[in-house]
Amino acid sequence: MNNSTIIARSVICCGLVFISSLLFSQSVLAECLTGACHQQLKSFTKLHEPLVEGECQVCHERVVAEHPLKNGRSFKLVTEGAALCFECHDAFAPASGKLHAAVDDGECLACHNPHGGSSVGLLRADGDLKVICLECHDAAPFELPHVHGPAAAGVCLECHDPHQSKYQALLLQDSKSMCLKCHADMVAGLENSPVIHAPLEDESCSACHEVHGGSFAHLLKGDGPKLCFSCHKEQAAKYNKAKTKHTALYKEGRCGNCHAPHFANHAALLPERESDVCLRCHGKDDFHRSKALKNIRTELSEKEHLHGPVSDGHCSACHDPHGSDYYRLLLAAYPESFYAPYRKGTYAFCLSCHEENMLRFPDTSIYTDFRDGKRNLHYLHVADPRKGRSCRACHQSHASNGPKLVNEEGAPFGNWKIPIRLVLTPTGGSCAPGCHRRMAYDRKNPVIVK
Ligand code: HEC
Ligand code: HEC
Ligand code: HEC
Ligand code: HEC
Ligand code: HEC
Ligand code: HEC
Ligand code: HEC
Ligand code: HEC
Ligand code: HEC
Ligand code: HEC
Ligand code: HEC
Ligand code: HEC
Ligand code: HEC
Repeated sequence: MNNSTIIARSVICCGLVFISSLLFSQSVLAECLTGACHQQLKSFTKLHEPLVEGECQVCHERVVAEHPLKNGRSFKLVTEGAALCFECHDAFAPASGKLHAAVDDGECLACHNPHGGSSVGLLRADGDLKVICLECHDAAPFELPHVHGPAAAGVCLECHDPHQSKYQALLLQDSKSMCLKCHADMVAGLENSPVIHAPLEDESCSACHEVHGGSFAHLLKGDGPKLCFSCHKEQAAKYNKAKTKHTALYKEGRCGNCHAPHFANHAALLPERESDVCLRCHGKDDFHRSKALKNIRTELSEKEHLHGPVSDGHCSACHDPHGSDYYRLLLAAYPESFYAPYRKGTYAFCLSCHEENMLRFPDTSIYTDFRDGKRNLHYLHVADPRKGRSCRACHQSHASNGPKLVNEEGAPFGNWKIPIRLVLTPTGGSCAPGCHRRMAYDRKNPVIVK
């Protein structure tokens, strides 16, 4: 609204007003409001203070003698635009910060009625801010499927100052503190949790959330992992390209199946110890599965020996929880089959932690205890180019009741499980597996095996 329209709107006033601006009083006001003239001024429940005093002329100035004047103007405003208001009110001049463009443009009357209103603030549209603000602003965000409580209620002023602010977007406080003013249940978590998601420290909540309304649940700016991938490119690449995909990421809950979005008590925003997070699903028999995967909780429970990283609760020491190019989401190559002769790379997974030399030499006196004298029995069993056996022929991956993670139940061989029946001695041991008669090995006094 420009000044000429303001003047145009202010042409008519009651005929008696001009008699003497010096003698203006309640009675004059009453006269302006007699009969059918300017009745609307009576309808306000709250009048602007100068009107209470009957002082129409502090704003309106008589320009011609006649009033009412047919098709003419007998009054003009004493000053135009915001200057009129600043005759009595302090001008907005923020030392630092920014004026609302509507205020800067002097459009006080876009929001205020100069005469009165239905409540405090002399607001137009019966004080319904949503109506007032959305005359200039896009209504679309407020009509999306998910609208933020206070925005839906139209209480824009819970977050915005209508005139000026030193914060971005005319906010009353810095954005994050403002969110936490109402979402007070998050304050303790942000103060006390050892792990805080970086964007909550460095940026505002609106890195992920819409503030007025959005298309996705929880006012999120994107659906499912897409939001997370907008910052986490590496996980996105695995999600899209990994040969072994972890179904957990593709099911309902997505990244939230394992991660808290804001803060957590454990590294990597995990709400529990890592293995407990995995066992939420892998510790149940009835979670959705197409592959017949073992219940890992059962596999671990009451076992005497846990594989090193398993006892640390660190499943991701071996599995990539997001996706991998290898069998069973392992971090490196590990054959899927019972027979898999050792070659460089075949067992890269186990050998990323264990001594590779235990498979490289037919004879050794240091690289493994599984030897008869110097004869390397790991080499014999695994590196045999014709019938090399994978580690699972003898070892468990996660836990075992036997020493050296040797598989007591036996590895699956077709429909059968091959028992190992390992007995250790201080200098060697013996096995009576399903493969051959009981045979012994001894590192000090070799048992010559024919
Ligand atoms: C604080 C300044 C101020 C005072 C005091 C004031 N007015 Fe106004 N008046 C205005 C402004 C500004 C406009 C132009 C409004 C617009 O363009 O929407 C206006 C417009 C009008 C109009 C024409 C448009 C309309 O709203 O009907 C009438 C009639 C009017 N005033 C009557 C009065 C009377 C009568 C009084 C005293 C009882 C009075 N005004 C006191 C500022 C004032
Ligand atoms: C002649 C002096 C005068 C002029 C001109 C004037 N006001 Fe006021 N206004 C007052 C007084 C006095 C009060 C009551 C004391 C206060 O709140 O500061 C008041 C109060 C207000 C309030 C608060 C009302 C409430 O319910 O809390 C608003 C909003 C307001 N004025 C807006 C305006 C606008 C917009 C203009 C310009 C169109 C304007 N005023 C021009 C004197 C004036
Ligand atoms: C975008 C809408 C909007 C514009 C434009 C606007 N105001 Fe306001 N103004 C408000 C609202 C909303 C309130 C607060 C009402 C409440 O507290 O409930 C307010 C309150 C006021 C008050 C009461 C005291 C205070 O600061 O809270 C005055 C005085 C005032 N405005 C003057 C002006 C003047 C003068 C202009 C033009 C320079 C102007 N306003 C422009 C929306 C606006
Ligand atoms: C008369 C038109 C008009 C009205 C009414 C209006 N605004 Fe604005 N507002 C503007 C304009 C123009 C801008 C500047 C837009 C831009 O820079 O793209 C703006 C900017 C804003 C901004 C962004 C400021 C920034 O620095 O980023 C906010 C927040 C805002 N308005 C809130 C409100 C609220 C809340 C209301 C209702 C109380 C309201 N506006 C009513 C015209 C209006
Ligand atoms: C819960 C707090 C909150 C409420 C309530 C709220 N806003 Fe905002 N608004 C914000 C924040 C925060 C921003 C800055 C957005 C950003 O940083 O991306 C903003 C930005 C804006 C902007 C600038 C343009 C934009 O969309 O980014 C306008 C205009 C605006 N709000 C208008 C309104 C209006 C009108 C209402 C009431 C109907 C309202 N807001 C209610 C918090 C709120
Ligand atoms: C004036 C108080 C208030 C402020 C300020 C506020 N909120 Fe809210 N917020 C609410 C209310 C009320 C709800 C609805 C709560 C409910 O339904 O349990 C809500 C809900 C939410 C939701 C959940 C929506 C859902 O469907 O689960 C998110 C996300 C949210 N707010 C984010 C924010 C962000 C970000 C900010 C800062 C820009 C913010 N809030 C500022 C009051 C506020
Ligand atoms: C990195 C992205 C991200 C940031 C930054 C973020 N959130 Fe969230 N927020 C989420 C996700 C994802 C959810 C949905 C969680 C779910 O599915 O249960 C959520 C849910 C919510 C909820 C509704 C569910 C609940 O926990 O009550 C509220 C409220 C909320 N956030 C407030 C905030 C506030 C306040 C901030 C800033 C202090 C913030 N968020 C910052 C991602 C984020
Ligand atoms: C099955 C549980 C699970 C799911 C689902 C999951 N993560 Fe993770 N994520 C983890 C674990 C466990 C870690 C810790 C890994 C580590 O320490 O090496 C982690 C670590 C991360 C890290 C830290 C950097 C890294 O790779 O170690 C980011 C970033 C991450 N996840 C993002 C995501 C995103 C994005 C999604 C959804 C697409 C997602 N995660 C889904 C379990 C999961
Ligand atoms: C606005 C960018 C942004 C978004 C969106 C985002 N993150 Fe992050 N996230 C980061 C930054 C920055 C870090 C810290 C640096 C890093 O580890 O890459 C981080 C770290 C993480 C970490 C490791 C935390 C730790 O301390 O170990 C996890 C896990 C994570 N994000 C998961 C998620 C998930 C899940 C989502 C989706 C709900 C998500 N992120 C969305 C920026 C983002
Ligand atoms: C939300 C439930 C859920 C959580 C939590 C979860 N998983 Fe899974 N996981 C699955 C589902 C579902 C499958 C796929 C089963 C199928 O395809 O039949 C799967 C498959 C696997 C597989 C076999 C992959 C393959 O295709 O061969 C491994 C290994 C695995 N998960 C490890 C983990 C680890 C490690 C964690 C913890 C970091 C974890 N999972 C957490 C649901 C989950
Ligand atoms: C030291 C490395 C290591 C650690 C730590 C580890 N895994 Fe495994 N996991 C493996 C290997 C190797 C396999 C493949 C076993 C095979 O097929 O012979 C496997 C297989 C699996 C499978 C598929 C089981 C099936 O029925 O084929 C799941 C599920 C799984 N692991 C979950 C977990 C969980 C949960 C944790 C943490 C509690 C964990 N893993 C820790 C090495 C490890
Ligand atoms: C992430 C590192 C890591 C990976 C990968 C790994 N292990 Fe281990 N392994 C360990 C740790 C740590 C120990 C405990 C070492 C100790 O107690 O001296 C261990 C112990 C063992 C033991 C028992 C040794 C003893 O002296 O009791 C065997 C057998 C074993 N691992 C076999 C394997 C096999 C087979 C694979 C591949 C399927 C594998 N490991 C992959 C870290 C790993
Ligand atoms: C034929 C059965 C068998 C196969 C196959 C086998 N191991 Fe072993 N492994 C053993 C026995 C028995 C021991 C215990 C030796 C002792 O302490 O007397 C052992 C011990 C180990 C140890 C403890 C350190 C050492 O060398 O004494 C590691 C680590 C190990 N094996 C890793 C592997 C890996 C990795 C594979 C697959 C590449 C594998 N094993 C294949 C039977 C086997």
